[in-house]
Amino acid sequence: MIDAVERKIEQYISELGDQYVFRLYKNIPHGKRLRTKLILKIAGSSLKVIKTAATVEMIHAASLLHDDVIDDADTRRGQASVNASEGNKTAIMMGDILYSKAFFELNSVSSEVAKVISNAVVQLSLGELADVELSKSFHTNREAYLKMLYQKTASLMEASAESAAILAGKNRKAYRQYGHNLGLAFQMIDDILDITEDSKTLGKPALHDFVEGKVTLPYIYLYEKLADEDREFLVSLHRKRLSEEEALWIKSAMKKHHIIEKSYNEAKVLIDEAIESMELLGEHDLSNIAKAMIERKF
Ligand code: IPE
Ligand code: IPE
Ligand code: MG
Ligand code: MG
Ligand code: MG
Repeated sequence: MIDAVERKIEQYISELGDQYVFRLYKNIPHGKRLRTKLILKIAGSSLKVIKTAATVEMIHAASLLHDDVIDDADTRRGQASVNASEGNKTAIMMGDILYSKAFFELNSVSSEVAKVISNAVVQLSLGELADVELSKSFHTNREAYLKMLYQKTASLMEASAESAAILAGKNRKAYRQYGHNLGLAFQMIDDILDITEDSKTLGKPALHDFVEGKVTLPYIYLYEKLADEDREFLVSLHRKRLSEEEALWIKSAMKKHHIIEKSYNEAKVLIDEAIESMELLGEHDLSNIAKAMIERKF
């Protein structure tokens, strides 16, 4: 069924009637298609469901095109990012094209679904902006970080699950909550993987968040544990290109203070809640998606 979603996206892109855009799109590797899997598991594979998954993947791809410009990231999904190979201008416009075509197509699915998803994209954009603002100086504002994380990442997963529930005639509130927890945990894990994995495994730059100014949960917790002198050193590395030694210092400080476990456990609480809610509804596949999310390496 994922194939049907791929074909639908290709159809949408070819309808734009622009060979260059079609070639650019074909050159972008597929991601994990997590949001599609979520939607199909909740709602089956009617044409409306396939269309919804296709638009969500286009929106997700658009958000990544813009995100890589914002984050100065030169790789994505294991190859040069569009901003790196074609330039920022092309990446931005390609993102706008995908967003706009997705919104246009959503109108023919259902106005309720169109509302839920377009509202999530407003949140996503507010979240990306908040991420930029929060990155300007070092902070330890966990509440602000969590709000931004909900907006930039959880909102689209929440909307995907809720939209699928609407189409399937299921309890939208329960699935929305599931998507919410999943999305928060997903970004928390993404922020952890930035520290624990290498760029080859991730297919995108590693140990890049702090360099870009992102003070993610592990960095907030690390700061809280460090003595004054080490705190000062950590803050001095914020927004700085790291030498090998400095990168090692961060990793070993994280290890010494069990920061990864602490952050991981926070994501795990959300995943456990998601699993429990789906088990209650007899949705074993959805609880397995939640399990896999926390065990992933990229
Ligand atoms: C990456 O999302 C952006 C985040 C929200 C962390 P994914 O990890 O789902 O990206 P792909 O689609 O699989 O590449
Ligand atoms: C971005 O978060 C999430 C989006 C809404 C695009 P990140 O900036 O952490 O995503 P990656 O790590 O580049 O995939
Ligand atoms: Mg990024
Ligand atoms: Mg980003
Ligand atoms: Mg990231």
